[in-house]
Amino acid sequence: MARAGTYPVHSALATAAEGVLPDPLDHFAEEHLRQREICGMLDTIAAAARPDRAVTIEALRHLTTALPRHLHDEEQGLFPSLRHRSEPDDEINDTLDRLDADHARTAQFLDAVIAALGRIAGSGGALTAEEAETVTGFAAHERRHLIVENAIVLPLARVRLTAGDLDALRQAMVLRRAPDTNTDSTGDRDANWDGEGDGDGDG
Ligand SMILES: [Fe+2]
Ligand SMILES: [Fe+2]
Repeated sequence: MARAGTYPVHSALATAAEGVLPDPLDHFAEEHLRQREICGMLDTIAAAARPDRAVTIEALRHLTTALPRHLHDEEQGLFPSLRHRSEPDDEINDTLDRLDADHARTAQFLDAVIAALGRIAGSGGALTAEEAETVTGFAAHERRHLIVENAIVLPLARVRLTAGDLDALRQAMVLRRAPDTNTDSTGDRDANWDGEGDGDGDG
């Protein structure tokens, strides 16, 4: 029999904790791999006469949930922490400024990309030429961004962030992933792309 009181009531938080790797920098690296994969899917969707609907929905789900969460993890956790710990000789602030500007551009792109993918997920057709250009432009933008984060930001963070910084960073990431304790006021782009659902036939 289950022992009453063995586990705290915040099981959603425990589940979220299992979803974040012990080293949050490893977690960022894993999410970057996933983002590269999504970029490949976006290029495939843009080039297809009849894009695979399941792939389109998979990309939509990423763009409406995981990606906004990742941006918040960096903007509210990783980047400020690295600014705080970096040495003047690291000359990281200009790079982080550029990456923050990239995120703003990502957010600008995202509405159009989500709208385009949402349209074909509903209709089953192909992207228009203009939509395809937006989607491939977004993928190219994301790839450039990933190169800088992987080559400069994560290696420096591994050198500069303390064990306490990493704990705090990870805790915030866990909270951001716990549905019952989501303190992220900016939220995800809640399009509910759960495969079958509201998006169907929504034009
Ligand atoms: Fe990133
Ligand atoms: Fe980023």
